[in-house]
Amino acid sequence: MKYQKICVLGMGYIGLPTACTFATHGMQVTGVDINQEIVHGLQNGHLHIYEPGLRSLVKSAMDSGNLSISNSPQPAEAFIIAVPTPITDEKNADLEAVKSAAHSIIPHLRTGNLVVLESTSPPRTTVDIVAPILEKSGLKAGTDFMLAYSPERVLPGKILEEIVQNTRVIGGIDERSAAAGKELYSVFVKGDILLTNATTAEMVKLMENTYRDINIAIANEFAHLADRFEVDAWEAIQIANRHPRVNILNPGPGVGGHCISVDPWFLVEAAPDISPLVHTAREVNDDQPHFVVETMKKKLGSLENRKITALGLSYKANIDDLRESPAIEIVKLLLEEHAAVTVYEPYKPDGFHGHVKAANSLKEALQDCEIILLLVAHQEFTTLIPQDAIKLTTARIAVDMCGGWQRKNWEDVGFDFYKLGQP
Ligand SMILES: NC(=O)c1ccc[n+]([C@@H]2O[C@H](COP(=O)([O-])OP(=O)(O)OC[C@H]3O[C@@H](n4cnc5c(N)ncnc54)[C@H](O)[C@@H]3O)[C@@H](O)[C@H]2O)c1
Repeated sequence: MKYQKICVLGMGYIGLPTACTFATHGMQVTGVDINQEIVHGLQNGHLHIYEPGLRSLVKSAMDSGNLSISNSPQPAEAFIIAVPTPITDEKNADLEAVKSAAHSIIPHLRTGNLVVLESTSPPRTTVDIVAPILEKSGLKAGTDFMLAYSPERVLPGKILEEIVQNTRVIGGIDERSAAAGKELYSVFVKGDILLTNATTAEMVKLMENTYRDINIAIANEFAHLADRFEVDAWEAIQIANRHPRVNILNPGPGVGGHCISVDPWFLVEAAPDISPLVHTAREVNDDQPHFVVETMKKKLGSLENRKITALGLSYKANIDDLRESPAIEIVKLLLEEHAAVTVYEPYKPDGFHGHVKAANSLKEALQDCEIILLLVAHQEFTTLIPQDAIKLTTARIAVDMCGGWQRKNWEDVGFDFYKLGQP
């Protein structure tokens, strides 16, 4: 193997598992982060993020002696950039972290090195932004060093499995760079490795998440339409999906996270004149928290001073990631309605910063409330048996905005039950 020394920039949900996986496969890895707290924490064995299996993977990587953590890049044969690419308030791609990570590599870049950008990026970022920065080293991309884009497509909650098993796309700025990328990732990737050019690889990632976003938007819009026509959206979707060429997703409280709610904007920003569908889907999904709160008001009347316990804050089930979470947006909207809100997020009990009571357990969350509002289908909530719940709570109203509960079970024990998309 040509690449024995690797430097991974960004020790987050993507960079940390990547660095550890290379280390446990025998490579010498430096994991870099500019956040001193994260660096200190990792150096002392403390994890700042939750992902199933990550704690023991980090321990194995550390114990192997192959992983060291630093606040600045070290000389290496391959550099991987896995830093955040959020959007600004104006819905534009914020590439500052990518640019600063690329700049920090310059002093260490040597002839024959490989640089891979993994961060989700707008089309042409690798060619138009990263290559010119790295070339400030005096070395030429494609001639002196190799440069590729390889999007990460893992599912939070299954990152460790998918990082190894998923098909990986590697887009080189030329064929030699793509081949070099394949050689690097072949160390641990068991899925197929597909080679293409850098801009195609960037588009692949954006297309995947945009496709998901649009499909969720249509499911959410079907829920709105079902509401208007007093139809059970869940039943209608289930029946429609019996058609051999139809596969409608479920409606929900909105779209969150670092990827699906962000990435389509990269396309809208890059080509606003030819992406109206992408833009509209984003607006439909971004507006879904309003629909949720308006639906609650319609069914339950004024929410002022109502004691509401919101179950779940993360952007999807069984993870701790609160970024861009629609559940948080809903809690904020409930506060604007002057509801008395208690939140309970088992994966991050202190995750909400605002005027709410944050409970530390389900029992504490339920004990004194009028309305139980399910926002995230965490297993702890979907396995809650209404017969048990009724003993824990003063509430007699249950509202399910993510499809985690069955109406009959709650009504059977005496709850008034409301579900998104059901009349
Ligand atoms: N989290 C996911 O599930 C997921 C999935 C697919 C793709 N992605 C993409 O991967 C990229 C990384 O996402 P993430 O979830 O790991 O982000 P993250 O916020 O969890 O971690 C990124 C880390 O990079 C660090 N950082 C910022 N600038 C840096 C620099 N110049 N040098 C070194 N470190 C720096 C930050 O301090 C942070 O700890 C993003 O582009 C994201 O869209 C994420």
